[in-house]
Amino acid sequence: MFATSLLVASLIGAVSASPSFSPWSSEDLFKRASLSSGCSTSGTASCTNTSSVSNLCCFQAPGGLLLQTQFWDTSPSTGPSNSWTVHGLWPDHCDGTFDSTCDASRAYTDIASLLTAQGASDTLDFMKTYWKDINGDDESFWEHEWSKHGTCMSTLDVRCLPSGSPKGAEAVAFFNTVVKLFKELPTYEWLAAAGITPSSSTTHTLASLTAALKAGFGLTPALDCDSGAVSQISYYYHLKGSVIDGTFVAINAPEAGSCPSTGIKYLTKTGTPVTTTTTKTSTTKTSSTSTKTTTTKTSTTTTAATSVPTKATIHAVQSDSQVGGLISKGTWSSQTPATFTLSGTAKSLKLSTSKGTCGVSDGIFACGDGDSSTFTAVSASGLLLLAYEGETSFSSDDVPSGSTAYDVHADDSADEIYTLSIVSA
Ligand SMILES: *[C@@H]1O[C@H](CO)[C@@H](O)[C@H](O)[C@H]1NC(C)=O
Repeated sequence: MFATSLLVASLIGAVSASPSFSPWSSEDLFKRASLSSGCSTSGTASCTNTSSVSNLCCFQAPGGLLLQTQFWDTSPSTGPSNSWTVHGLWPDHCDGTFDSTCDASRAYTDIASLLTAQGASDTLDFMKTYWKDINGDDESFWEHEWSKHGTCMSTLDVRCLPSGSPKGAEAVAFFNTVVKLFKELPTYEWLAAAGITPSSSTTHTLASLTAALKAGFGLTPALDCDSGAVSQISYYYHLKGSVIDGTFVAINAPEAGSCPSTGIKYLTKTGTPVTTTTTKTSTTKTSSTSTKTTTTKTSTTTTAATSVPTKATIHAVQSDSQVGGLISKGTWSSQTPATFTLSGTAKSLKLSTSKGTCGVSDGIFACGDGDSSTFTAVSASGLLLLAYEGETSFSSDDVPSGSTAYDVHADDSADEIYTLSIVSA
């Protein structure tokens, strides 16, 4: 059954929350006046009890199997081109069946105003970018997700709220929790860290996608496909305490999604890319020891690198293995990589080689052609990756061998897609 579990997300609020190991800014964690359930998070996780539990305000039941679902919508595209988007947080029964639309009297409308009025405008701002309706009616979609799924969560029953809570406070808590959980699940970054980025032609095996996601999440999520292309992912959890501020305990997906085992496409989206780096400065030294306990699995998340070497070689990484690197003109070759000089900071980085400064012109990265662009460096899966306009994917027409060298596209538009790892020289 669900033997392997990993503590991933403490939702107890600002005091114990990790300041930021996610690619999204988490300043909101500190600004929000959050609701407190008063529930312990040290008891039995939902779906793992061996006898009946009576206080369902602090024990999520019968919907104790929680799924954080995300879309990869390509037709039409929704959201940023380099991020999956929120579908919802669903309280399945422990056997996978589920209730829906459990309390019509709490089918709130105007979620946007509700969030703003109750101090969650940061959550709302995030939702406007990452919680998108395929038909463009985000507000209706949020209302639907709340009324269909949120109203079925026992721990969000109005009886469970502190007395004096404003009307709709439990829905505000729902949206805050979904957003917080989603931020810890950077599917795009986890796939990219394994060299898996969107493409109109490349196909993947389910095993390779799952391995990449498992490396990031620690456990196995379920992937759904639509016409042979990935369209949705479900991350499964049990919960200790309340949806308001409990601890989500990740588990392996109890059943596989609908994707076939081979020939899976991960199609490109047309949206504007988001910059997926954070200003992760407050987690260093003093606070890190006390806040890292529940964030073990997020250490592979892409974050802004804190320091970059001044001299480095740049290696291409495809499917987790190094395949050559960049030579002095900035092209991809299997020959000895050039030494690059790096200046600036991880958030604003300039590169040069013996040929001259490096830049991107007409989408092509080159050094010594007179261009000088600003790059960033991000940490992912223990690597320091070069990023351009927030994207860590680079590509070329073919894989180099012998003395051939290929132009480097500063995006994933060519057939062979890879990331560029900065290695101190
Ligand atoms: C766990 O607790 C819930 C809620 O009280 C109950 O419905 C369920 O039967 C319990 N499970 C077991 C195995 O006792």
